Amino acid sequence: MTTLMDSKSAGFKFSAKLGVTRALLRAFGLFGDPFTHLLQGKEDPYPLYAKVRQRGPIHRSHLGSWVTGSHELGSKILRDRTLFLNREAGGVPGHEMMDDIPWNSSILGLDPPDHTRLRRLAQPAFGPKMISKYRIQVEKLCHGLLDEAAGRDGFDLIEDFAGPLPLLVIGELLGVPEQYHERFVKAGRKVGPVIDGVKSLKMAREFRAAVDDLDQVFSELIELRAKDPGDDLISRLTTAHGDGKLTTEELLAFCTVLAVTGFETTTNLIGNAVLAMTGDRAQWNLLKDDPDLAPRAVEETLRYDSPALQAQRVPHQDIALAGHHIRANSSVVVLIGAANRDPEVYDEPDRFDLTREDPAEHLSFSGGIHYCIGAPLARMEGETALRVLVERLPELCVSGRVQRRSSPVISGCTRLPVSGTAR
Ligand code: HEM
Repeated sequence: MTTLMDSKSAGFKFSAKLGVTRALLRAFGLFGDPFTHLLQGKEDPYPLYAKVRQRGPIHRSHLGSWVTGSHELGSKILRDRTLFLNREAGGVPGHEMMDDIPWNSSILGLDPPDHTRLRRLAQPAFGPKMISKYRIQVEKLCHGLLDEAAGRDGFDLIEDFAGPLPLLVIGELLGVPEQYHERFVKAGRKVGPVIDGVKSLKMAREFRAAVDDLDQVFSELIELRAKDPGDDLISRLTTAHGDGKLTTEELLAFCTVLAVTGFETTTNLIGNAVLAMTGDRAQWNLLKDDPDLAPRAVEETLRYDSPALQAQRVPHQDIALAGHHIRANSSVVVLIGAANRDPEVYDEPDRFDLTREDPAEHLSFSGGIHYCIGAPLARMEGETALRVLVERLPELCVSGRVQRRSSPVISGCTRLPVSGTAR
């Protein structure tokens, strides 16, 4: 298949499109439109989120998208069954530059009834029984990674701990055997960052190569599991595929999407939690004194510094939202990060506070039928990682320059140097 990234002229078109998009974002940003400003990527988007909220529950950005930073309205939009992921014609809005990757045929790009079928098949892999089974594995993986990293003077929390962990866990979940680990992890690390969007032709090419490699790995595994099924997700989906329930394209796309969605987000959950709590020692000390607070630390991190910053929906008919007329096929964007700090819902929303009493549920895992299927796994990984970190490195602190992502869709660090005497 000739792909966007393969041919020279397509490569040129891709670069031109990227250039035009950047120029448009810069121009509209200059006109004071907070959403287009946000799309350029900010290390700290929260001042812009406040500006979005000042414009009312929902407003139309210069780029034509409808944007909300309201918790109440955002929550309603994400749960609204008359709003979809796909335009009636065309794919996920904002993903046009990634038309060439298997995104739209994955669970993340599907609407019912296809979405319902895929979701039902995958759901049991994230149920309570499986999660408690994975917990023991995750704890072992955390200790193994720390054994290696904590022996040194200092280490990078992302590179050496929070980065590898979720990928190894997804490997377990999918049943990737040992002999494929190196290829899987290498390709997974190239695929993960694309959740930010494709930013250059080089990135697009590397991503394409990594997706091809993952496809190869998964194709071999599907063949293997069809003959000899195990207790893993690929076996379950392959058997369903054999019954004609899942196309090969859907199956491969689903496996790839797990590597994208489950990897970067969970890495950033752990990194953002450590960054927030070591930046406010009293919070870290609360966790140190009582590691059972780890689940609360995870929830407050998800609210305060959500790894996922936005979700989009599309009405297929004209609708009314907060008194505005929204045309069919418009893009409606929920700024999750803004909703999670809505002062109408949270006291002192800009303060990380793991003693918050019964806070309203954050929108970090979205809502409605697309509510993150991996939420129980992410929560368990986050809790386990924080517990192991605080117990083994109680004096953990940031020991060098932190590098944050500046992405409109994902919040996290690319570098987080830490040190602390290991127990
Ligand atoms: C802190 C970690 C995570 C965050 C913040 C997160 C966030 C999200 C969000 C916001 C959505 C919904 C997007 C929308 O409404 O359009 C979503 C969906 C999804 N997530 Fe996660 N996620 C996390 C971890 C994981 C993990 C660990 C996995 C799997 C291994 C995973 C797999 C998925 C899948 C497959 C979907 C699509 C669900 C559907 O459309 O039905 N996520 N996630």
